[in-house]
Amino acid sequence: MQVGDIEIKAFTADHLAAAIRLSQEARWPHRREDWQVVQQLSEGVVAVESDGTVVGTALVTPYGPDCATINMVIVDSTMRGRGLGRRLMDAALTIGGTRPLRLIATSDGLPLYEKLGFRETGTILQHQGIVASALSPANTQSATADDLPAITVLDRQAFGADRTALMTKLFEIGEFSVIRHDDDITGFACIRAFGRGEVIGPVVASNAEDAKLLVSHFLAQRAGSFVRVDTTGAAGLSDWLSEHALSHVGGGIAMSRPLPIPSATSTATTFALANQALG
Ligand SMILES: CC(C)(COP(=O)(O)OP(=O)(O)OC[C@H]1O[C@@H](n2cnc3c(N)ncnc32)[C@H](O)[C@@H]1OP(=O)(O)O)[C@@H](O)C(=O)NCCC(=O)NCCS
Repeated sequence: MQVGDIEIKAFTADHLAAAIRLSQEARWPHRREDWQVVQQLSEGVVAVESDGTVVGTALVTPYGPDCATINMVIVDSTMRGRGLGRRLMDAALTIGGTRPLRLIATSDGLPLYEKLGFRETGTILQHQGIVASALSPANTQSATADDLPAITVLDRQAFGADRTALMTKLFEIGEFSVIRHDDDITGFACIRAFGRGEVIGPVVASNAEDAKLLVSHFLAQRAGSFVRVDTTGAAGLSDWLSEHALSHVGGGIAMSRPLPIPSATSTATTFALANQALG
């Protein structure tokens, strides 16, 4: 098959089975449900051979006019190094339009993204494992549906863009813990089924101690279960996660195009991502 014969088409739910095959081949843990979540929140493209075989994917998840993440960029291993990744990314950049763009790069993707003008903004550390022993959380509560607006505002302060659609979806499929001071929510964490078990994130708090309490809220209920956390290098949670049997197993490079302009400081800080695709 000549790469020139491959068409770039819109990604639809009909492409999910092929997309799962590609992510499994790349050793990513995404289940059909995980692909569905990102597909429902995104617009994207597939690379398709003339016989209909899907040999590449790229999705763009818009967060209002302020930002979009590019994710799920995969080329069939037998077709790499022939310009398909570049064609998928060109299509993704068109979908992203004028929005500032973010992504988490693997070592495979890094050279391509650098050529396209993305620059490193930080590191992402993937921690995971079987939760060893129960922790005793304090000062945390389970969120209710009434907390969604306040949680969405806190997420926007930490992330720098409005992720209402994502937060609403996470409320549908996951659980949230919160820290309240009087009537205000000052931190939250989400847990949901993902990949081999569950993922905790986003985690947003005003300091690392609160972030640990919010994560502990879930770890306390999950001794013996597989849990993953994608934290940032800057968050300072890595050693603590390792001490709780969530080992550092990999990660990625956070990149932006253009580099973000530092904004007014908010005390809300992201300590863990929803996952590497969604930021
Ligand atoms: C990342 C990936 C999608 C790239 O797809 P690809 O089809 O091989 O990419 P291309 O052939 O279009 O190459 C893209 C560019 O990167 C360059 N490149 C690739 N590897 C490079 C390297 N090690 N050093 C320097 N440049 C490199 C290529 O020369 C090309 O540049 P050009 O467009 O200016 O010619 C593919 O390797 C993949 O699917 N990897 C597994 C999944 C993954 O990690 N995805 C990235 C998620 S962030």
